[in-house]
Amino acid sequence: MRKKQLAVLNWKMNPPTLKEAEALFKHTAMVARTLRGSDVVVCPPVPFLAKMPARKGARPALGAQDVFFEEKGAYTGYASVSQLTSVGAQYVIIGHSERRARGESNEETNKKVLAALKGGMQAVLCIGEQKRDGEGAYLDFVRRQIIEGLEGTLVSQRNRIVLAYEPVFAIGGRAEDALDPDEVHGMKLFIQKTLMEVFQKKQAPDIPILYGGSVEPANVGMLIERGRVDGFLIGHAGLDRAVLKQLLDEIESAG
Ligand code: PGA
Repeated sequence: MRKKQLAVLNWKMNPPTLKEAEALFKHTAMVARTLRGSDVVVCPPVPFLAKMPARKGARPALGAQDVFFEEKGAYTGYASVSQLTSVGAQYVIIGHSERRARGESNEETNKKVLAALKGGMQAVLCIGEQKRDGEGAYLDFVRRQIIEGLEGTLVSQRNRIVLAYEPVFAIGGRAEDALDPDEVHGMKLFIQKTLMEVFQKKQAPDIPILYGGSVEPANVGMLIERGRVDGFLIGHAGLDRAVLKQLLDEIESAG
């Protein structure tokens, strides 16, 4: 049997109101519950998290878009692991390029990964180059994001790590702006090789590798077949009800 596909829906700073968020979640849940071969995670903005009906084991699972690594204290505007898990978030996206663009370093990302894993969450670590320049310099950039981002993680925590590869130049476009599926496959192999190095293993560890960046119903099939990805980090396509249904159905049938 093929491994389940994982679809992580990153709502970013959408939708504008709680009412719309509740309606979108309800619709997403309705579609997600019909799927057998795919797991869905919804990551709404923090103000909506506690209002989404999430229980452990319920579908879809709930995730946050970011977390702070300190446990509590004078950190204005941040949310901690325990605050997020106490309202039902099981997953957390860490090191998204939109946060890295605002100054988040590999070191900070690593602290968040360690805090999330320690608190029992599934950490979705985002990696990806801004552009492809020079003689493979981008590969070294991605390799460092993985090595520095996962430093200090324990063997017992590895089944709660997910990697999301998102080349920054491919984010926010239409289906044709996504990275070519064969190149995605090449990056998956490169990421697996780096993980073998990090974990000092001869075989690629069983860590799901997702692709993100202009994922739409028109390209998911190819990305699964040729890109061999284990799932997707999805932005805009998760916000439109009709597109979302089409997208999840495509993932389900190709996966
Ligand atoms: P997109 O966003 O699907 O709208 O390209 C993906 C992401 O930024 O995670």
